[in-house]
Amino acid sequence: MKHHRSGYSVLLLLFAFASLFTLSTTSPHGSHHVHAAHNREENPTSTTQYPTPAKAQVSLNPVSPCFNGHCATDTPLPEILPCYAANGTTFNEESSTNYTLICDIDFPGQNIYPFVLAGSFDDCLAQCEKYNAENNSASHCAGFVFAPECVNDSDGCYLKSSLIDPLPATIHLVGATVATPTPTCTPETAKTQPSRRSEQASTSSDLVVKEFRVLGSSTNKPTTQYVSHVPATPQKLASSVLVPGINTDLITEYPIAGDTGVWCGDDLPSSPNVANMKVVPHMSRDGGKGGTINGTHIFVFCDTASYQINTTSNTSLMVGFVSSSVAADDGMKALYGQPLDLVDHFGEWQDDVGRMRGFAPMTAGEESFNIALSGNGYRYAVWPESSLIPLNASHALLYPSLVYDVVDMDTQAAVFNNLGNSILLVSVDLAYGPGATRVVKQLYQQNQTTFGTLGGVRSWGSSGTGANDGSIYLFGQTDHGVLIARTTPDGFSDLSSYTYWNGNSWSGDMPSPSSNATMIDFAVQDLDVVYVPALRSFLMIYLNTLADNTFYYRYLPLDLNVTQSGYYVDNIVTGQWSEEKILANITAPVEGYIYAGGMHAGYFGDDDITNGGLKMLITWTEHTGEDAASPDSGYAHKSAYIEFGTE
Ligand SMILES: *[C@@H]1O[C@H](CO)[C@@H](O)[C@H](O)[C@H]1NC(C)=O
Ligand SMILES: *[C@@H]1O[C@H](CO)[C@@H](O)[C@H](O)[C@H]1NC(C)=O
Ligand SMILES: *[C@@H]1O[C@H](CO)[C@@H](O)[C@H](O)[C@H]1NC(C)=O
Ligand SMILES: *[C@@H]1O[C@H](CO)[C@@H](O)[C@H](O)[C@H]1NC(C)=O
Ligand SMILES: *[C@@H]1O[C@H](CO)[C@@H](O)[C@H](O)[C@H]1NC(C)=O
Ligand SMILES: *[C@@H]1O[C@H](CO)[C@@H](O)[C@H](O)[C@H]1NC(C)=O
Ligand SMILES: *[C@@H]1O[C@H](CO)[C@@H](O)[C@H](O)[C@H]1NC(C)=O
Ligand SMILES: *[C@@H]1O[C@H](CO)[C@@H](O)[C@H](O)[C@H]1NC(C)=O
Ligand SMILES: *[C@@H]1O[C@H](CO)[C@@H](O)[C@H](O)[C@H]1NC(C)=O
Ligand SMILES: *[C@@H]1O[C@H](CO)[C@@H](O)[C@H](O)[C@H]1NC(C)=O
Ligand SMILES: *[C@@H]1O[C@H](CO)[C@@H](O)[C@H](O)[C@H]1NC(C)=O
Ligand SMILES: *[C@@H]1O[C@H](CO)[C@@H](O)[C@H](O)[C@H]1NC(C)=O
Repeated sequence: MKHHRSGYSVLLLLFAFASLFTLSTTSPHGSHHVHAAHNREENPTSTTQYPTPAKAQVSLNPVSPCFNGHCATDTPLPEILPCYAANGTTFNEESSTNYTLICDIDFPGQNIYPFVLAGSFDDCLAQCEKYNAENNSASHCAGFVFAPECVNDSDGCYLKSSLIDPLPATIHLVGATVATPTPTCTPETAKTQPSRRSEQASTSSDLVVKEFRVLGSSTNKPTTQYVSHVPATPQKLASSVLVPGINTDLITEYPIAGDTGVWCGDDLPSSPNVANMKVVPHMSRDGGKGGTINGTHIFVFCDTASYQINTTSNTSLMVGFVSSSVAADDGMKALYGQPLDLVDHFGEWQDDVGRMRGFAPMTAGEESFNIALSGNGYRYAVWPESSLIPLNASHALLYPSLVYDVVDMDTQAAVFNNLGNSILLVSVDLAYGPGATRVVKQLYQQNQTTFGTLGGVRSWGSSGTGANDGSIYLFGQTDHGVLIARTTPDGFSDLSSYTYWNGNSWSGDMPSPSSNATMIDFAVQDLDVVYVPALRSFLMIYLNTLADNTFYYRYLPLDLNVTQSGYYVDNIVTGQWSEEKILANITAPVEGYIYAGGMHAGYFGDDDITNGGLKMLITWTEHTGEDAASPDSGYAHKSAYIEFGTE
């Protein structure tokens, strides 16, 4: 394979060593433990069954009472906190300030800092006063919220620069807003005051990083329930095709296997049996990029192993291994300056001990081959490696790479044969979680530039954001830069609808991998490009191929004369990108270097860089140096908060 794969793949490779070694000894597909579990699960008396999906939805996230709702009724206020005592206002003698007390209300995205340390409500109030005493010119603490449940976790106090758009909080909060003697500073008047956003729309021309804060490692919370079902019996192919060697017929000539991909929507029986898991599996997953679909924050992973941990015998058993998996944000922790909590929804499970169905559906050819030969070091993988590419208000696209992976079981040396890519149409089912349909089994082929695998950017049409018109731009990774293809929202599944930037115009001719018609003329391992409405310009963030633990960014001239309609995204190939700047220096991991680095577009709602603000969540993955089955897992998915400014 000539194409030089990124550091990401080198780490996937390392993972393949470990996982295939385990596969060869515990072989999840053939494991008797898994089959024993199936038998137990099919016994209706041993499981709790809920009659309807609606009920199932309520019990979907037993780990978090705050999911999709407000904590106010779930979590009584601790008596020591002033909400009960002070009846609406409290007076601070030191500063002669009256505060209006508020409970379980937040003012999202208006934090002066991601968070400040405070041990109590009074401490947090004191921080707000201290800020105003010291910093009475530039910005002002207009109020604060305090998260009492996080007391000894520290990150509990959020000072607010403004009080726009009060919203019910997703976690329990006690706060107060500064009440001034005159009626001019109510939230209503605050709304009419110039916001930070309009200050940003100045004529300044340099984009700088104003704030960068690492939030830490994401926590995995598998659901404790699954949909009890009889798994489809995997198709067993003739032994003549179950032989090592690249055979793209396995990809293109077989239907999608019924027991792969998140179980959802149309496939579901009218009244699925939602049952408790017998074992809540321990997960170890690689990668982890994502994006937002209609308010759900999705994280898509590559190779994912699930383990059954026996704490009595202190042993672990790998029960599942899939080439992709998915999780969703739970509780919007990054809004409060905390590491993400990720939840696995119940459409992902094959059985009650944690065997997964995988995120990207596999063809019966790929599946049958892997069952027969993965233990010997041969398998087909479908690896989603980019951030979500928005399609419309309800769907997004991913172009996962198709890989034939060969591991020499003696030396553990691995060879990845890139077999092109595929297309996944991603959506979110309210009860079953995020899922994907593999709408094209193989789009680009071996030896072609796999446009879309590195990601892409949506160009909205005249009907506006979230509608079905406009176009889709896709990045093509080469060893010397990034080529660009363009297609349409109704034509993306048909390769003949794709055109390619040739340096001057869009052409139907697919460029050679050595083409110089690049958007950027250097190699990257990860890339995101977004339109930034607050700056009327475009921003790219990327990791280079030098394994230097650094996120970089570039941007087009600010205040480009563009409107978000038509072919405005053509600016990414016609415009002049800025010099490279450092977005974030990440502390070198215990082992290897950071990879799978990307922007989680949309996390901060209206304050997000993609929606009119200048805030951004970035995520990446690194090796922990620990065993995959250990509590820390072999991988850490990490996130950081970034706020831009202009000067
Ligand atoms: C709270 O205020 C209400 C009316 O504003 C009053 O009736 C009540 O006694 C007050 N409670 C306390 C504890 O001060
Ligand atoms: C006041 O502002 C300065 C500079 O922006 C900062 O270093 C300092 O920590 C601020 N004080 C408080 C109490 O936040
Ligand atoms: C927090 O820590 C303090 C001392 O370190 C301890 O006394 C207190 O009980 C802790 N609070 C909670 C809620 O764990
Ligand atoms: C605080 O509120 C009390 C009662 O409404 C009022 O008498 C007092 O003047 C206020 N103090 C300030 C500094 O606004
Ligand atoms: C865990 O290990 C203990 C001791 O070896 C064994 O008795 C028990 O059956 C195991 N539990 C499971 C669920 O395998
Ligand atoms: C469990 O096993 C690990 C590694 O085999 C060992 O480090 C650890 O001390 C063991 N824990 C217990 C409680 O035996
Ligand atoms: C988004 O596109 C998908 C695929 O074409 C389509 O099935 C879906 O209905 C569209 N959603 C909306 C809200 O238009
Ligand atoms: C977005 O999600 C809401 C529920 O949270 C749902 O009512 C709405 O139909 C969804 N919109 C689309 C376009 O799917
Ligand atoms: C890709 O290139 C390799 C090496 O040149 C060749 O053996 C293989 O047949 C090519 N595959 C396709 C689908 O063109
Ligand atoms: C790309 O540019 C390099 C150096 O300028 C040149 O050697 C190469 O031939 C060019 N490739 C194509 C396909 O034009
Ligand atoms: C912006 O573009 C529009 C049409 O695309 C043009 O009419 C207008 O003069 C441009 N304004 C500036 C300041 O360049
Ligand atoms: C990142 O590190 C480089 C080299 O150590 C340093 O020059 C630069 O100032 C740092 N940038 C940021 C944003 O921390």
